[in-house]
Amino acid sequence: VTAEKGGYDHFMLKEIHEQPNAYRNTMLGRIDESGRKVVFPGLNLSDEKIRSINSIHVIACGTAYHAGLVGGAAIERLVRIPVSFDVASEYRYRSPLITPETLVIVVSQSGETADTLAALREAHANGAHVLAITNVVGSSIARDADDVIATLAGPEIAVASTKAYTSQLIAFYLFALYMAQARGTQTEEEVAHIVAAMQALPEQVESMLENSDAIKAYAEQISTHEHLFFIGRGLDYAVAQEGSLKLKEISYIHSEAYAAGELKHGTLALIEEGIPVIALATQESVLEKTVSNIKEVKARGADVMAITHEEHVAGLLKSVDQAFAIPKTLPLLTPALSVVPLQLLAYYASLARGNDVDKPRNLAKSVTVE
Ligand code: AGP
Repeated sequence: VTAEKGGYDHFMLKEIHEQPNAYRNTMLGRIDESGRKVVFPGLNLSDEKIRSINSIHVIACGTAYHAGLVGGAAIERLVRIPVSFDVASEYRYRSPLITPETLVIVVSQSGETADTLAALREAHANGAHVLAITNVVGSSIARDADDVIATLAGPEIAVASTKAYTSQLIAFYLFALYMAQARGTQTEEEVAHIVAAMQALPEQVESMLENSDAIKAYAEQISTHEHLFFIGRGLDYAVAQEGSLKLKEISYIHSEAYAAGELKHGTLALIEEGIPVIALATQESVLEKTVSNIKEVKARGADVMAITHEEHVAGLLKSVDQAFAIPKTLPLLTPALSVVPLQLLAYYASLARGNDVDKPRNLAKSVTVE
């Protein structure tokens, strides 16, 4: 059994460590030799069709939904088309406005999630073009979709999704650039700049994985708590949601992810002496605002750990108890790095609590019932 886990104690840890290669494989053959152009051989979506799209719906469940939050934001920023987000189990029941000019993007590691498949069919029935981002090319979702972008993460066994999430981010970034090329919303220079930063991500992840002792120690520290919070703004908030889900599903510690600016509208009442708060503070454009939200929880006695960039560690340490630095990339790409310490945090917290890391209670790897 250890052999199939590649020498790791658990599939989850193995899959966390497979991420650098999953990033590389998902980019392979999709960036032309000049490094200035994204290509998707075999995609049915023509440039003309891309130019006709006037809205995008991103639909998925759980971790795939969280990848969609980041990916949809990347499309909105780079392509300037309005993007809406739905968890798949809600989509059909809100009578979404779907037209032939709607592009529906469904995201699913397994390609078998019943709610996501049902949402895809609803979108089809209303004439939308459906693009699936999936890790299983022979899956039901891949078969039913008009177009498929395969994430090349390799089989994911652990119930807690890790490399599938980050590969989905890579697929989204590439697709956002592809759309931007077709619609002329980014110059070749801008595309090349983002592509170069993407190509550096695998090594940056490797460096984080080589230095995981501090996060392990922090995981042991929080493992005795029953409640904690993740806060962040913008893309940091999207990553906070993924970090919170990961921690809940395998450590059984209750956590909530909050948009940092929203705390004072109710949730701040729950902050008391010693409660752990994990603050994602990587997005420079909102850093100052995040810091003021950190001060709000600190003033109520929270024990704050921040995830940020090296250059902000010293400054942040004036307001937080601990800070972990992650490597620097473009703000839009930062989720592909900042999620890694949160995956490790969930893993080590689950381990410290003696849980079955790869097979958490009450959960299935693939949810094929609605
Ligand atoms: C992630 O850790 C979960 N186990 C879960 O949220 C999962 O992402 C969700 O069920 C969606 O699965 P899919 O990607 O196979 O559609």
